[in-house]
Amino acid sequence: MSELNPTQVSINSDTGAVSPETGRYIKHLSELEGIYFDGEAWARTLREESDPVVYEVVEFKKQGSDLFFGTTTMQPGKVGDEYYMTRGHFHEDRTKSEVYCTLSGRGLLLLENRQGQCETVEMREGTCAFIPPDWAHRSINCGSEPLVFSWFCSVEAGHDYGQILKQGMRKLCLDRDGEVEMVDNPNFN
Ligand code: PA5
Ligand code: NI
Repeated sequence: MSELNPTQVSINSDTGAVSPETGRYIKHLSELEGIYFDGEAWARTLREESDPVVYEVVEFKKQGSDLFFGTTTMQPGKVGDEYYMTRGHFHEDRTKSEVYCTLSGRGLLLLENRQGQCETVEMREGTCAFIPPDWAHRSINCGSEPLVFSWFCSVEAGHDYGQILKQGMRKLCLDRDGEVEMVDNPNFN
């Protein structure tokens, strides 16, 4: 096993910038087809808002390490009544957990396991969420500012998007006259 050196990494709580960073990607709304409940609202938002950026992920990965970490920064916004959110995934390696720490903004972490149990964890500055092995997780920005959180995970966890892409998660997070409401997803089967 190679010797690894300690490393200082700076994270900006407002922008999610990671320095040094080793990788990043951006998700525009056009790349999130089928994620949101209301397909017509998705197409309309895409057109009217010229394919906005929904979220950006920046990471720091040290070659040879068992862990890596980074940030996700999600813009405030909605598709119809549904707040901006990530794709959501299980980890490919079902034994791997993860930790999310919220740095700024306001949101919800939606979790569900394969037995159908659903949980939410509030996301606001100073809160961390433990995501147990084999729980699907999706973050949702239900505030008016960017939601910035850091995450810490095994490099072997991997992302399994298949099941959630196919049938969604059991709950939807909607804006009902300015109030955040969780409702059953009628499309889930
Ligand atoms: O590993 C994680 O859980 C995060 O880094 C997410 O991948 C990130 O928040 C983006 O979400 P998703 O991969 O569900 O699109
Ligand atoms: Ni994950």
